[in-house]
Amino acid sequence: MDAPYAIEMLNITKKFPGIIANDNITLQLRKGEIHALLGENGAGKSTLMSVLFGLYQPEEGTIKKDGRVVEIKDPNYANNLGIGMVHQHFKLVECFTVLQNIILGVETVDKGLLELDEARQRVMELSDKYGFALDPDALIEDVTVGMQQRTEILKMLYRNNEILIFDEPTAVLTPQEIEELIQIMKSLAQEGKSILFISHKLNEIMEVADRVTVLRKGKRIGTVNVSETSKEELSKMMVGRDVDFVVHKQPKQTGEEVLKVDNLTVSSKDHKKGAVRNVSFNVRKGEIVCIAGIDGNGQSELVYALTGLEPLSEGRIELCGQDITDASIRDRSLIGLSHIPEDRHKHGLILDYSLEYNLVL
Ligand SMILES: Nc1ncnc2c1ncn2[C@@H]1O[C@H](COP(=O)(O)OP(=O)(O)OP(=O)(O)O)[C@@H](O)[C@H]1O
Ligand SMILES: [Mg+2]
Repeated sequence: MDAPYAIEMLNITKKFPGIIANDNITLQLRKGEIHALLGENGAGKSTLMSVLFGLYQPEEGTIKKDGRVVEIKDPNYANNLGIGMVHQHFKLVECFTVLQNIILGVETVDKGLLELDEARQRVMELSDKYGFALDPDALIEDVTVGMQQRTEILKMLYRNNEILIFDEPTAVLTPQEIEELIQIMKSLAQEGKSILFISHKLNEIMEVADRVTVLRKGKRIGTVNVSETSKEELSKMMVGRDVDFVVHKQPKQTGEEVLKVDNLTVSSKDHKKGAVRNVSFNVRKGEIVCIAGIDGNGQSELVYALTGLEPLSEGRIELCGQDITDASIRDRSLIGLSHIPEDRHKHGLILDYSLEYNLVL
């Protein structure tokens, strides 16, 4: 027999100016299941989850918790209903410790003073139980993205949340961390927690989820059992046509060399021997060159060196025929180099400024 529904989102419509982000979407989450939400960029996944977490109010539709209609006015209300969310962009206080972040909002206070001992003990028990290896006193800004995510997960567990929403949790993780997260999700589901898991990686969904709901352009395309579907069917539901997993490409006719990197070495405080060591490559006009690697293997430092954000310890860079090894950021930009940073929220934009201000800056 199928488990009863923990959460039912029925005929939810949420509009933003000029767009219907969620168009009459129904999503039913069973107790103890891992339910994946699949869809391309902009399909409406985060919006739907934000509605469930009380960040947005839908124009139409109802939400039921354990069969009873609820009105989720704000995230605190969601929390009281046992709903927790790990956001796509983490919501942590960078200058607070792991422990402070976990208890923030549900602190125990004794005679006006913060009572940390009990909280610390509970946090450590939870951390040990799931093998998180958290350092409760480390500052968020000093720990890895994987640890930041575990802090977010512990925030939910510390609040005894029963419904756990993970918004694209694997996008920021290394393959090993993804494997660990999948195991964590499976054991949480086994304990009876109900999990909503957003992803557009079909392999992960096939491995971890029990059922999948597919969204496309704000509409629900369908819900299927993972055991009865295939990657081909899911990708077809997601994009609306057959997807060819084989790439057909002609060799590219490229022009002259525009970027030449010779024996580049960049040191950093974490890597005594250099985060980038002796790297050489070139880029020709009209081509796209991909640099592959897991986060933390020197890609960021390589980009910092190319763009002039960090000095090189050795090597030489040539851009459009000019030596830019020691050139300023501005000069590199004038010669024709642009940079879209990996974390646009942190390094590319001033989020409080308008588009206009950001453009002219
Ligand atoms: N606060 C907002 N104001 C206006 N439009 C929004 C807002 N949030 C989302 N949208 C729009 O609603 C649509 C759905 O966005 P949403 O973030 O839910 O997509 P998503 O499926 O989570 O995509 P992704 O995979 O990129 O995270 C998009 O067209 C987006 O631009
Ligand atoms: Mg999203």
